Amino acid sequence: MLESKTEPPDVRVPPPGPNSRAWSARHRAQAAPMGPKAPNGQPFDSVVFERGRASNVYCVDGNRYVDFAAGFGALLLGHAHPELEKVLSEQSTELWQALGDVSPSTKKIELLEKLTRLHPSGDATGLLGLSGADAITAALKTALLATGRPGVLAFSGSYHGLSYGPLAHSDLRQSYRTPFLAQLSPHVRVAPYPEGDGEESLERARALIDDNVGAVLIEPILGRGGVVVPPAGYLSALFELAHSRGALVIADEIWTGLGRSGAWLSCVHDGALPDLICLGKGLGGGLPVSACLGPKRLMENWSRPDEVVHTSTFAGAPLSAAVALRTLEILERDRLPEESLRKGGRLIKRLEPLTEEFPGLKLRGRGLMVGLEVGLAAGGASGLRQRLLERGFMTTTGGGQRDVLVLTPPLTIEEEHLDALAEALRDALQQRKGAR
Ligand SMILES: Cc1ncc(COP(=O)(O)O)c(C=O)c1O
Repeated sequence: MLESKTEPPDVRVPPPGPNSRAWSARHRAQAAPMGPKAPNGQPFDSVVFERGRASNVYCVDGNRYVDFAAGFGALLLGHAHPELEKVLSEQSTELWQALGDVSPSTKKIELLEKLTRLHPSGDATGLLGLSGADAITAALKTALLATGRPGVLAFSGSYHGLSYGPLAHSDLRQSYRTPFLAQLSPHVRVAPYPEGDGEESLERARALIDDNVGAVLIEPILGRGGVVVPPAGYLSALFELAHSRGALVIADEIWTGLGRSGAWLSCVHDGALPDLICLGKGLGGGLPVSACLGPKRLMENWSRPDEVVHTSTFAGAPLSAAVALRTLEILERDRLPEESLRKGGRLIKRLEPLTEEFPGLKLRGRGLMVGLEVGLAAGGASGLRQRLLERGFMTTTGGGQRDVLVLTPPLTIEEEHLDALAEALRDALQQRKGAR
């Protein structure tokens, strides 16, 4: 087994350093302007990445960070995993592009064979795409083909991607949708993502799932919405409700799946069996590939006398398929979903005392998908993220108001770095308290 080790942080220049600032200016000059701005209305300078190895990422100023962002949770095996590098370089001497479904590559077929086994029905087929949004689009289309009902129940705070289909169902931030409302599906209803015992959410779902609703679309743990874990039994009650009304369940496991939340599939871990399952993010080991999986009885609806297809030029392309296949093999061989559950438990245990030391913090998560709700004071989670950067830890933020610090390190991260993060976070919170 090839391995590389994560080094502790080494911050030589306060981030973002001069080189990052210069690169940020070049980025600003060429990239369409978007995203959050500083309170003075100016865009932020960012830390610009140069390379990564294991759970380390290096910026253009030579700072070395321990990466608790991991490509928005996508780098399950860390940066440049040696076995993925090897398979990528081998595949690059064989075949880069095939012809989708017309003349598929062997790697695409092997990937589908492995992926479809993950579906709890035991007789699934799949549709590959390039992004999470692609997989959600494929699932929405499949549900409509199967039920003929255009309505979809989605949830508050949800994020399913920003192309038109998924965007209509993403409640996270109103501003993402408002300018495009005229072109978005009018068939979406939104129930609150479960809190407390989940009863209020179920009650709304009962009221909203009528004969027009063909699908319930849910993240088994709310990701970008702030890492919210539903109460025990909620998902099975919801799925049962959907099925009793003739609606299908689409589980968006794009973030939670493949071990991130401590299980291959988060909803199956919770004892709830969906119909369609969307995977993405970690699937490609860092390359773009996603999948929508469903039992044959549903997927068969794509077979029609008139031609109905859902595809794109690079869906299941050999390079990403080969890397995805090896990623799945490594996750299985090294029991990384179980490792994620164990390491996540350790991280939460290390962070728990902070919620007593600093009242008002709320800690949530499962596996290596952990959120710390910090409120809006002192720059909210963005302010805390900057303080952690200065200490050599790369993190992201979540929640509708960016009030949740999000920790999604590679599943391969060594435990000493989890402990070090907890220490750095204590220090950062102390500094934040002093600044208030
Ligand atoms: C739960 C979930 N679904 C879908 C997506 C969209 O994936 P992509 O950005 O690859 O389109 C994301 C992205 O963050 C996500 O977190």
